[in-house]
Amino acid sequence: MSCLVIQGGRHLTGRVRVSGRKNAAVAVLPAALLCEDENRFEDLPDIRDVRTFSEIMQAMGADIERDPQGLLRVRANGLSPSSVPQDLSKRLRASYYLLGVLLARFGYAEVPLPGGCSIGLRPIDQHIKGLRALGAEVELEHGVIKARARKLRGASIYLDVVSVGATINILLAATRAEGTTIIENAAKEPHVVDLATFLNTMGADVRGAGTDVIKVRGVEELHGCSHAIIPDEIEAATLMLAAAATGGDVVVENVIPKHLDPVSAKLREAGVHVEENGDWIRVKATGRPKAVNVKTLPYPGFPTDAQQPISALLAIADGTSFITETIWERRFKHVGELNRMGADIRVEGHTAIINGVPDLSGTEVRATDLRAGAALIIAGLMAKGETKVCDMEHVDRGYERIDEKLSALGACICRSEP
Ligand code: EPZ
Repeated sequence: MSCLVIQGGRHLTGRVRVSGRKNAAVAVLPAALLCEDENRFEDLPDIRDVRTFSEIMQAMGADIERDPQGLLRVRANGLSPSSVPQDLSKRLRASYYLLGVLLARFGYAEVPLPGGCSIGLRPIDQHIKGLRALGAEVELEHGVIKARARKLRGASIYLDVVSVGATINILLAATRAEGTTIIENAAKEPHVVDLATFLNTMGADVRGAGTDVIKVRGVEELHGCSHAIIPDEIEAATLMLAAAATGGDVVVENVIPKHLDPVSAKLREAGVHVEENGDWIRVKATGRPKAVNVKTLPYPGFPTDAQQPISALLAIADGTSFITETIWERRFKHVGELNRMGADIRVEGHTAIINGVPDLSGTEVRATDLRAGAALIIAGLMAKGETKVCDMEHVDRGYERIDEKLSALGACICRSEP
């Protein structure tokens, strides 16, 4: 059990570079298996989810190596569609993207049910609905999803709920289906667009990504190419919130400011100075933040993945804040841990009511999931005394060297292994 030990009270100052986006990385990696040629990726972050997915793909027969410059090369010429390791698949959510990829490539897939953060039921009915619409037979047997299709055929699919995962899985399968597929009520997250960009560079024909109607004209063949993934706007948001919470002055580099509009708007509403230009955003705290209300929504609304981190900032805000989580039904597990640090938060249904307190005090806390861990790190950075954030395995899934980045900004932070 790896922990971070933080001496709170330091103002974060300086410049920090954001890594490539986790949720784009775990979508383009399986997409690389859609052809036999080599695909090359820049900016894939060195995080646990990328390492786990690489191990899964190697177990399936793909060759994957990261060169000294950080370029990740994937070659999938010796692939077996029924050798997805169950133990590794359960370590992350995105392993289920292999369904769409293996169906498109081989017409057959056996993929164990995925894992991922425990933030709700996380059903996959929309994935199955979409793959069946494309002509696949999909069954669940002993925890393994088995899908087969002699030939995938384009279809019009309306998603009952805006689902990033279902949009991506259907998109992957549709690239090599016969005919045209229309995905309506599609997710518009930037990593859906990033995946579509990569697929089109491979020779696919995807239009409308980033809108709620995506049109895919299936093609016979795809070929290898190079792709640099987009920056991680949730890591950027986490660093911006940490700067605001510690009374700091930080320039977050390698961002696409547009992707952070909801977070920047909320920080400005809280009285924090936010300046953006090209590919950086500067966050300068101007005293105790004001209370603000937040409601999570699919992109371009306020991102659910930044809900837990911003609740740490609002725990010390001047006033009462209301955070309504509309995407996940169990994404408030960080609240109990923040209250152990002196926060005054109660949860009523899908809403966390945060009565701001002047400051928090350090103690030992546990990361229950990836973004809960991020929230506790932000709390530890501003709390009086020492905070020990344990179960860092959750955080290391999605943040690359977060302790080193924060230390370079002046935080007193170190890792303590068991
Ligand atoms: C992706 O999860 C992200 N994970 C999550 O980030 C993120 O919170 C989520 O999108 C929303 O933005 C990855 O990209 C690997 P959804 P995903 O399908 O695809 C319901 C993080 O912290 N739904 O968009 O699993 C579902 O219950 C992680 O980086 C169905 O009902 O999310 C939820 O209420 C956590 N049926 C809503 O849709 C389905 O078949 C959105 O889920 C699928 C989803």
